[in-house]
Amino acid sequence: MAAAGEKGGSRLGWRSLGVTVILLAALCQGSSVERKIYVLLNSTAPCVRLLNATHQIGCQSSRNGDTGVVHVVEKEEDLSWVLDTGPNPPYMVLLEGNLFTKNTLLKFKESSRISGIAVVYAKPPPPDGFSMDLSCPNDGFGLYTSDHGSQYSHCNGTVWNPLGTGMSYEDFQFPIFLLQDENETEIIRQCYREHNVPVNDTAPKYPLCAMQLISPMHAVTSTVSCMRRNSIQMSFSINPEVVCDSLTGYNVWSTVKPVNTSGSLAPEDQVVVSATRLDGRSFFWNLAPAAESTVSSLVTQVAAAEAIHKMADSQSLPRNIMFAFFQGEVFDYIGSSRMVYDMEKGKFPVRLNNIHSFVELSQVALRSNSSLWIHTDPISRNNETVNKEVMELIEALKSSRKDTNVTLQEIDQSQPLPPASFQRFLRVRNIPGVVLTDHKAAYQNKYYNSMYDTPASINMTYPSGLSKEEALNYVTEAAQSLSEVATLLAKTLYRQAGGNSTAEIKADVKSITRMLYGFLVMPNNSWFQSIIKSDWKGLLDNKPPQYYVTASLGGKPTANPPTSFLISVLANLTGQVVNYTKEECQNPDKAADSKRELYEYLWVQGPLDDNTTTRAPFCVRSTLRSHVAESPAFELNEWDSTEYSTWTESRWKEIRARIFLVPSYQLEVITLVVGMAVLLVSFTATYFINSKADILFTSSDDSGSVAY
Ligand SMILES: *[C@@H]1O[C@H](CO)[C@@H](O)[C@H](O)[C@H]1NC(C)=O
Ligand SMILES: *[C@@H]1O[C@H](CO)[C@@H](O)[C@H](O)[C@H]1NC(C)=O
Ligand SMILES: *[C@@H]1O[C@H](CO)[C@@H](O)[C@H](O)[C@H]1NC(C)=O
Ligand SMILES: *[C@@H]1O[C@H](CO)[C@@H](O)[C@H](O)[C@H]1NC(C)=O
Ligand SMILES: *[C@@H]1O[C@H](CO)[C@@H](O)[C@H](O)[C@H]1NC(C)=O
Ligand SMILES: *[C@@H]1O[C@H](CO)[C@@H](O)[C@H](O)[C@H]1NC(C)=O
Ligand SMILES: *[C@@H]1O[C@H](CO)[C@@H](O)[C@H](O)[C@H]1NC(C)=O
Ligand SMILES: *[C@@H]1O[C@H](CO)[C@@H](O)[C@H](O)[C@H]1NC(C)=O
Ligand SMILES: *[C@@H]1O[C@H](CO)[C@@H](O)[C@H](O)[C@H]1NC(C)=O
Ligand SMILES: *[C@@H]1O[C@H](CO)[C@@H](O)[C@H](O)[C@H]1NC(C)=O
Ligand SMILES: *[C@@H]1O[C@H](CO)[C@@H](O)[C@H](O)[C@H]1NC(C)=O
Repeated sequence: MAAAGEKGGSRLGWRSLGVTVILLAALCQGSSVERKIYVLLNSTAPCVRLLNATHQIGCQSSRNGDTGVVHVVEKEEDLSWVLDTGPNPPYMVLLEGNLFTKNTLLKFKESSRISGIAVVYAKPPPPDGFSMDLSCPNDGFGLYTSDHGSQYSHCNGTVWNPLGTGMSYEDFQFPIFLLQDENETEIIRQCYREHNVPVNDTAPKYPLCAMQLISPMHAVTSTVSCMRRNSIQMSFSINPEVVCDSLTGYNVWSTVKPVNTSGSLAPEDQVVVSATRLDGRSFFWNLAPAAESTVSSLVTQVAAAEAIHKMADSQSLPRNIMFAFFQGEVFDYIGSSRMVYDMEKGKFPVRLNNIHSFVELSQVALRSNSSLWIHTDPISRNNETVNKEVMELIEALKSSRKDTNVTLQEIDQSQPLPPASFQRFLRVRNIPGVVLTDHKAAYQNKYYNSMYDTPASINMTYPSGLSKEEALNYVTEAAQSLSEVATLLAKTLYRQAGGNSTAEIKADVKSITRMLYGFLVMPNNSWFQSIIKSDWKGLLDNKPPQYYVTASLGGKPTANPPTSFLISVLANLTGQVVNYTKEECQNPDKAADSKRELYEYLWVQGPLDDNTTTRAPFCVRSTLRSHVAESPAFELNEWDSTEYSTWTESRWKEIRARIFLVPSYQLEVITLVVGMAVLLVSFTATYFINSKADILFTSSDDSGSVAY
């Protein structure tokens, strides 16, 4: 080894000296060289670390990111190269979407030869379904626990999400990113093809194409330990470094008749509650299209609210109707548990005993044979009083289905409720209620809480060649079908509130059509532009909104964009335009007749003027409100709570992905050796020049002395 080194030594030395000079020259140019070497990947979604009372889940890279040689895995057989035979570990796996399965992930988890995974978004989505959520979602935080209805706990008897692999709740010690842009994926593939393809199973030659994924996470172990660290930092440090934040957002609620929010309802006032959830998730951070799992019911409920508000007698109904949209439900019912907690503590204008009955909409877009299933809770129905009211509610549903294309189906009374916000209410009080879904037992949704729960998965397809404006108003199959459910819901709620002439109630398919487009395809459309609160216009993006709940910032809840869109849409469809100036609208206390406790005011952008690009803003008054949806566990500082959600999101400094060429290990060593040699040579030269300076520089010295 040493001999070979000596042999080639001098020749190599001279050649490498040249290389070194070039390298030195390159170094002087600095950043421009880095730009040439690295290709930044701009459209990626990382998997990040989340924590609950006892565990950490998700992914992380090492502090400065993880690097590996790129290997494309397109079929099962390619796995052996990265797991066993490939000669250049660790590998960064470019994984075809269809292989992103539990099986593969578990293999990668056990291997020490994998430094990270870049997942390719599968097009079309895996036909057999894809869900990384649990097969028994929200287990342990709903109604059925070991103390209450234990025969139904842990989805005993009914598995709601049988396709769920639970991988979203695993802890990975390497980074996993999703590649969202086909063109960027192609750049990586090309780099791989040019440099890394093994020929006849022999090792490819250097330089190789490598990828670096950077997503180091600050928080470790559990919410208990990261919150403790936060509070120590807060009390002893001038610049506290928070390591994790609670998952927090806002619930949205509104009532048909205004409610005085500075007081509380009289005990005899009754309210019919209609509820749905407002958030979704996937394995990746801030990626949750949630078409079927969230948006299907959300738009249906808004349309029902619009239909009821249009009724002339809506303000004189014997009972009030409340529409609630719960945030963070995916993470162990954050929003609904907070509302129930506030109702119990008297910090919410509506109390639990004001609730007359409860109707919850769950996933409703995939009704086969237009079936809508009525779920009820077997335990509370053991109580005769409650059972009678549940039967009345089912009767109201049945009478309301006339003239709608919905087939109502009751479920055997021995089956428990599916995961639903309603369960959090039933935990504290026997409220008569139902949960409406498109599934009898297992979800119809094949892509529950995944990145494939997209408009296409609920048959929301647009003919090609439509302009933005045409698409906004194009009635899809999904919109038509959801409007039937909305009509049914509106009639039922109206009946429950004591109204009797339901014939006129009809949900507006046009509203649903526009909502579906805005909530799932393109928020930046002319309708949203004209109804959005002026302060929020920056949220209107040309991409589909994401329904991830988001983390609080500096202890303050932040609203994700869909929450702001919902508020604007609900205000437009259920509110009234009032003749207020901007000042009055933004500070309603200044307007004499604002009745601040009853109404909320939004200053909205308004439509474009006829021939200009300016807008005509106006003020909208409505009964809608937002309500902080932070788990009571954080209010109570019970970070190890098993009753309330304890989910937090780790903080990080940066998240980045890039590819570049790595020289061989040998080349790196040579560069180092030559670098040292050059150093040595320059030392010698300096010494030589110094020691012979008198000889070398005499003439100048002489001329200098002549000058004196
Ligand atoms: C990502 O963005 C940077 C800067 O805008 C650009 O130089 C780079 O080419 C982009 N990467 C890809 C893969 O397009
Ligand atoms: C925290 O999450 C892990 C992983 O999903 C789960 O096994 C554990 O039961 C959870 N802990 C609590 C207290 O809910
Ligand atoms: C990908 O590249 C093609 C051709 O260059 C282009 O038409 C297309 O818009 C690009 N797609 C994205 C998502 O940038
Ligand atoms: C690969 O192997 C096949 C058969 O063993 C041979 O014909 C072919 O030339 C090899 N290709 C290269 C690039 O070595
Ligand atoms: C709302 O309730 C508060 C406190 O009970 C009361 O002072 C106020 O007059 C009420 N406002 C309206 C508009 O009824
Ligand atoms: C969605 O479309 C597919 C294919 O067009 C069809 O087979 C399916 O029945 C549709 N689903 C619903 C719920 O309409
Ligand atoms: C049934 O429920 C009602 C209302 O929650 C309650 O007042 C009543 O005491 C219950 N009856 C029995 C037999 O538990
Ligand atoms: C939204 O659409 C308008 C045109 O309707 C356009 O001018 C604006 O740049 C778009 N906003 C974003 C964030 O793309
Ligand atoms: C709702 O938006 C439409 C424009 O799409 C507008 O004409 C109407 O006045 C708005 N209504 C309210 C109450 O904001
Ligand atoms: C709106 O208010 C302004 C000033 O208070 C008044 O001049 C105008 O007539 C009002 N318009 C309507 C439609 O009430
Ligand atoms: C539209 O354009 C005409 C002519 O340029 C102008 O007189 C008019 O004021 C404009 N209308 C608006 C609403 O700006």
